[in-house]
Amino acid sequence: MSECSPRYNVYSKIHRALRAHMAETLTALGRSDPADETQLRGTLAQLEGLLDLCASHLKHEDRFMHAAMEARRPGSSHKTASDHLHHVEGIAALRREIERVRAAEAGCRESRLEALYHQFSAFVAENFEHMLVEESYNNAVLWECYSDTEIHEIEQLLVASIPPDEHARILGLMVPAISAPEREALLGHIRAVAPREAFDGLLSMLLPRLADADRSRLRAAFA
Ligand SMILES: [Fe+2]
Repeated sequence: MSECSPRYNVYSKIHRALRAHMAETLTALGRSDPADETQLRGTLAQLEGLLDLCASHLKHEDRFMHAAMEARRPGSSHKTASDHLHHVEGIAALRREIERVRAAEAGCRESRLEALYHQFSAFVAENFEHMLVEESYNNAVLWECYSDTEIHEIEQLLVASIPPDEHARILGLMVPAISAPEREALLGHIRAVAPREAFDGLLSMLLPRLADADRSRLRAAFA
C-alpha cells in the first residue's frame, strides 16, 4: 500500500464523530454546575444519548465488521470483540452512576458528579485506544482479506441496517467532525439518492452545527 493512495478506512468518519462527541460530552460534564438543575439535566441527557450511540455502534461493528473478519480470518476479531463486551459493562456502570447523580441530595451532588466525570473519562480513554486498534489491526486484516469495493459493500449493508432516526443523529455528529471535502462528498452522495425534501431537511438540521466558515462553504456547495 502506498502512503499516497491509502486503502479505504471504513472506521474513519464514524470514529472521528465518536471521538469529537466523547470529547465534547466529557468537557460538558467537567463544566457542569451541580446546583444548576437545568444545565445538569441537559448534560446527563447528552451523556445518555452518547451511551446509546456507543451501544448501538459496537453492535453494528460486531454484526458487520467482526463477522467479515471472522469469515476470512477466523479469530481475528477476538481482541476488539472482547473489548466490546467490556464496553457493554462500562456503559451499564455509567448509566447506574448517572442515576446516582440524579438521586443525590444537593449536598452530595458535587462528589457524585465528580465520580461520574472520572468514570466517564476512563471510558473515553479506553474507547480512544480501542478505536485506534480497530483502525490499525482490524483494518490490516480487512485490507488483506477484502478489496476496497468489498469493504464499501459491507459498509453499505451496515449503514442500511441503521434506523432513520439514528442515522440522522449520526450525521449530525459526523458532518461537523470531518473535513470540508469529505462533508461535501458525503452530502453529495446523499443528495443523489434522497428525496429533495428529505435532503433539504437534513441540510437545515446540519448547517447550524457548523462553524461559520464551514457553514458558508457548505451552503455555497449545495446552493
Ligand atoms: Fe469498536
